[in-house]
Amino acid sequence: MSATLELTVSSLRAVARDVIAVELRGSSGQVLPTAKAGSHVELSLPNGLKRHYSLVNATGQSNMTSYIIAVGWDSQSRGGSVWIHERLKVGQKLSVGLPRNLFEMDDAHRHVLLVAGGIGITPIYAMAQACQLEGRSYELWVAARSASRMAYLDELKALVGEKLHTHFDDEQGGPLHLQVLLENQNWDAVYACGPTPMLDKLTAVTAHWTPNSVCIERFKGPEITHEQNGSFELCLQRSGLETTVDFKESVLEAMERIGVEYPWSCREGVCGTCEAVVIEGTVNHKDLVLLPQERAEQKRMMVCVSRCTGKRLVLDI
Ligand code: FES
Repeated sequence: MSATLELTVSSLRAVARDVIAVELRGSSGQVLPTAKAGSHVELSLPNGLKRHYSLVNATGQSNMTSYIIAVGWDSQSRGGSVWIHERLKVGQKLSVGLPRNLFEMDDAHRHVLLVAGGIGITPIYAMAQACQLEGRSYELWVAARSASRMAYLDELKALVGEKLHTHFDDEQGGPLHLQVLLENQNWDAVYACGPTPMLDKLTAVTAHWTPNSVCIERFKGPEITHEQNGSFELCLQRSGLETTVDFKESVLEAMERIGVEYPWSCREGVCGTCEAVVIEGTVNHKDLVLLPQERAEQKRMMVCVSRCTGKRLVLDI
């Protein structure tokens, strides 16, 4: 069980149309564990859901007394966004996981392009603040359907000044042209967060860049299809349990079927909650959490999406 903090909602503030910022503090205003730009925390909501949100104010400073997240209204919400928008109140206590960073800026990248689409501004805003503090050279492109939907727009204008470029679909008559933006790149790296079509396009346009110079955080995992899957034996070594994972089910679903309660949040391979240690077996990694080197090591896997390519998978569970 990972460590958690008991924090209280100290303020709720609209920061754009359909986006609210939630500020969380300790009961005595104590300094909280520090977090670098790109970090997220896991909120355990009273309705039983666990959800991950980027810290808007994570800049690596050691004197953080609050964590701030921003949550967009999502009509497709599976319960997190809607609950926060409709039910969360100032004074509510929430269990909050320690900050974790799967989207950390590389210190070697001194000249960076930041790109945010919609609510993807949350980690990118933290990165812009960190770049300012660290004296890192950067430019920021933000895109949204309209200016009214762009969270923290006034704050960004004040912080970033002429290095801020905005693109609003309703004013410019279509989405941001990433091809034009990125074709003459002289950046050490691009850091981007936003909706899937935007990030797919960015990935395609930067396909020729060196791999670690394109750093992306996605809200959703790739579409998982079952057609190519095989079934395999799953052995949970510490529990002494075994079952067959059918081609249509995930390792996590197979564990739940035999009564194993295992932590999860996104079930899409993007949050890292369901990570498990692999003792035996070759894994076909389908998550967006592990780095290429970590995938190659074959020591860990995300059981919500990744599978075994052989006949037997042994996990340290
Ligand atoms: S539950 Fe989020 S990566 Fe598996």
